[in-house]
Amino acid sequence: NQILSSLILFDEIHYLPETGSTMDLAKELAEKKKRALVIAERQLSGRGRLSRTWESEKGGLWLTLVLQEPLPLKEAYLLTYLSSVSVAKAIQETYGLQAKVKWPNDVLIQGRKVAGILLEIKAEIDALSYALIGIGINVNNSVKEKSFLIPGISISEALGKKVKRLPLLKDLLHHFEKLFSKKNEILTEWKALSETLKSHVKVKTPEGTFIGIALDIDAEGALLLELEDHSLKRIFSGDCIHLRN
Ligand code: BTN
Repeated sequence: NQILSSLILFDEIHYLPETGSTMDLAKELAEKKKRALVIAERQLSGRGRLSRTWESEKGGLWLTLVLQEPLPLKEAYLLTYLSSVSVAKAIQETYGLQAKVKWPNDVLIQGRKVAGILLEIKAEIDALSYALIGIGINVNNSVKEKSFLIPGISISEALGKKVKRLPLLKDLLHHFEKLFSKKNEILTEWKALSETLKSHVKVKTPEGTFIGIALDIDAEGALLLELEDHSLKRIFSGDCIHLRN
């Protein structure tokens, strides 16, 4: 198996022609203390963040990584940033497309969403017992205009041709492992690829909607927003729309 040779991360790799969501088998494996990679050719009930559905037709890359790292709970947020950076870099290197990251969990090409990350964790007191990192990348599948809050795009649409997915997967895992071992570089890398920072944004949070300039990501992973009255707002989770300046 070509993938296996480049991996040190997994006890098991599961390839499913069809499943509900890769998150489900990933969770079962996680409960059995496995480090695993679950990939599906097609998902019948793919899940996005905030209980949204995620269209997962054939042709995309739909996978979940099961990690069993005893990461301190307060560092768990790094996993989303780590994943989006790895996806963006892999897209750039594999296909020569300029990919950027958008807060909190998206990867963009030409300002349109090409990939999303769904992080589910189980914690014990103040450390992670496991993490499920769901990654969905629109590769050769077609993307409906209204699938996301922002316009979507697939890699084949950006390139005007169908592409191989295995090189993308390998490069993604390579970056993931490499950056995982250099945790203090994750935020710097994310910021360097960010389309959100310095932008005028509208962020919907459980507390309400805020409009301002995205200044930074702080040491706890929160987005720092400068509101129109110049006060600062720290936002830990929400949905973000980039406004035209
Ligand atoms: C988002 O942008 O809302 C996150 C999307 C995450 C989609 C991936 S596809 C593989 C894994 N299985 C799922 O059901 N969801 C994630």
